[in-house]
Amino acid sequence: MKLKYSAGHVSEFRGGSVVFFVAQYDRITDRQLKELDEVSLGAITTLLESGEFTGKMGEVATIYRPGGYQADRIILAGLGERKRLDADSYRKAAGTVSGVKGLTLIPRAAFYLGRAEKDEFFQAAIEGYLLGSFKLLEFKTGEGAVRKNVLDEITFVVGNKRILNRVQKAVERGRIAAECQNLVRVLASTPSNYLTPRLLAAQAQKLARTHGFSCRVLDEKAIAREKMGALMSVARGATEPPRFIILEYRGAAKGRKPIVLVGKGVTFDTGGISLKPGTDMHFMKSDMTGAAIVLGTVVAAARLKLRQNVVGLMPTTENMPSGTATKPGDIITSRKGLTIEVINTDAEGRLILADALDYASEFKPQAVIDIATLTGAALVVLGYHGAPIMGNNPRLMKRVKDAADATSEKVWELPIWDEYRENMKSSIADLHNSYGRPGSTITAAAFLENFIGDYPWAHVDVASVDVERAGRPYVPKGMTGVGLRLLVDVLYNWKAL
Ligand code: BES
Ligand code: MN
Ligand code: ZN
Repeated sequence: MKLKYSAGHVSEFRGGSVVFFVAQYDRITDRQLKELDEVSLGAITTLLESGEFTGKMGEVATIYRPGGYQADRIILAGLGERKRLDADSYRKAAGTVSGVKGLTLIPRAAFYLGRAEKDEFFQAAIEGYLLGSFKLLEFKTGEGAVRKNVLDEITFVVGNKRILNRVQKAVERGRIAAECQNLVRVLASTPSNYLTPRLLAAQAQKLARTHGFSCRVLDEKAIAREKMGALMSVARGATEPPRFIILEYRGAAKGRKPIVLVGKGVTFDTGGISLKPGTDMHFMKSDMTGAAIVLGTVVAAARLKLRQNVVGLMPTTENMPSGTATKPGDIITSRKGLTIEVINTDAEGRLILADALDYASEFKPQAVIDIATLTGAALVVLGYHGAPIMGNNPRLMKRVKDAADATSEKVWELPIWDEYRENMKSSIADLHNSYGRPGSTITAAAFLENFIGDYPWAHVDVASVDVERAGRPYVPKGMTGVGLRLLVDVLYNWKAL
């Protein structure tokens, strides 16, 4: 997608479609709309009077060959109530128009945001378009593999020349966030036969070369040398070997402590010997979403040239049943030396994260955030609409909550009380990996807490938000990549805790 910026009157844009973002109105008060109404011989008045388009969220209307305008057509996109206008209004409206053929069957378009001058509105508009128009065609053949959307150049037109630089910066930032979120969607949607731990590691190495960060991959021997017994216990059942992927982006002085991101990379979760039921098991190809988010976030940090040091840790394995698989009741020893009774081999995410959180201490981090499709119960707590978060540092939690407000990737904090910590103690080993269903989103975090070092820590459970079943304006049906914009925003606004 080529992005351009121009100051002037949107009526001068020629050779494509103009998207007009319009807040709900019952009288035409906006100067541009009034002008548009005049040159289009009252088209706006007609739309308004007929009730066809009043600027409600989700509404779209097209005015063809508007006189006085050089554009072929104007597409009006409703933003909803003016007093409730925020960045997500633009994200949703742009997501809605991303499905309009009058926009996507023509190579060029202009976006006109009216008098909206907030940077985040421009950022959200490009995010909404790029996220809404995402389509995975890789696994189709023939006609089905042809991308029908030919739009490849968007010009942001603003009335005021002085804001042009700011608008460009905001739009470029939005483009990077959306493209990285779409990368997460591709990886999460890619089935496990096309994305084994080794193939995910190869992808990470390729992205590292392209975007200028380092990527080190520990193979099964190096993992054994690191004594990552919890990760190895999950990998035991699989024929595909595990990989522990280490990403390092350096955007600040060498001595500056990094922010470490840890992502669960289970490329397929069958449950192991504690086998999952067959219904919907295919969704478990996306049990590496956390790792993909970490990879995408480090790519974004590099592309945004953030002035921070960022480390990404991706423990990556399959969770398979077989003759060599870990069995319920087996006791394993984690990298940290703590023993774990594996009550349920389907509670594997916390095992691989345990070793990664322990390994994170090696980097002397200023903070560690882990992100994982960890518990089905996350969906029970918050439904599809938000991700539970837990942690040990109120300032870090506030950062994550602020990022959630800015990105509309909602989070809600749950408590880790001592009672939950007690729940995770084993009668014969130091810990067990499952207390069963009660509070399982929280007990998972209480388990992880045993493996963190002396650092501020936040845990984000994205199991409730990783799949979209129906399709929403900027979230097509399928894997959502939710969590990426959240972490990128945390890093973008980072300052010492
Ligand atoms: N990957 C699953 C969690 C999951 C479930 C993610 C559904 C997305 C959708 C995780 O490994 C798991 O199986 N968790 C168990 C833990 C239980 C055995 C304590 C769960 O949540 O049922
Ligand atoms: Mn599992
Ligand atoms: Zn899992």
